[in-house]
Amino acid sequence: MNYHIQHPVIDDRMARLRQQDCPTSQFRTYVQEIAQMMVPDVTANLFTLPTQVQTPLEITTGRKLERDIILVPILRAGLGMLEGFLRLLPESSVAHIGMARNENTLDPESYYFNAPVNLADADIIVLDPMLATGGSASAAISELKKRGAKHLRFACLVAAPEGLERLNSDHSDVPVYYPALDSRLNEHGYILPGLGDAGDRIFGTVQG
Ligand code: PRP
Ligand code: URA
Repeated sequence: MNYHIQHPVIDDRMARLRQQDCPTSQFRTYVQEIAQMMVPDVTANLFTLPTQVQTPLEITTGRKLERDIILVPILRAGLGMLEGFLRLLPESSVAHIGMARNENTLDPESYYFNAPVNLADADIIVLDPMLATGGSASAAISELKKRGAKHLRFACLVAAPEGLERLNSDHSDVPVYYPALDSRLNEHGYILPGLGDAGDRIFGTVQG
């Protein structure tokens, strides 16, 4: 299932983010702000359970989230979205997956994995701003499933049709959330119009 998140403030931030001359500090802030604004949509259908609450006046029934939440930024660029999600979901645990896309083959190469033990029981939100060929997201999700994860969703900022198709086909059980659906990939696997290399722009490592 694909969810195109639409909101005028997100659109405004996305246009600023795409600007070639957007400085690193602003770029980071916009990524974080957009991620934070995505949280209500990304979590809208999480299951809740009834819970008894003692107010200062009487006992009532409230709702609590059924499962713990684990946020999984795909390194590096996924880290840019993490703070936005943690602001609204501060009780979440964080797993880290390192994936680097080989520039020639465009295949993801896994270099790091560190996750809490309760993957099977948690609602897992995988974060990466860019869904290009879909290789990195698909491999990260496969890795999480191999270690027991069952309730997964994927959130990005910019999706290419090729990446969406790949993810939907490899992991049809994983909903994908994105505020921008771009037109295509170029011959180097970069999203057009896109925003360039998200990791480099977030961390200021653009080669001059
Ligand atoms: C970027 C991006 C995704 C991946 C998307 O990461 O953050 O993880 O490429 O491309 P794909 O959908 O074709 O796999 P990159 O490998 O450049 O690493 P970085 O985050 O460390 O810059
Ligand atoms: N990774 C990025 O950071 N940007 C793209 O456009 C494609 C992959």
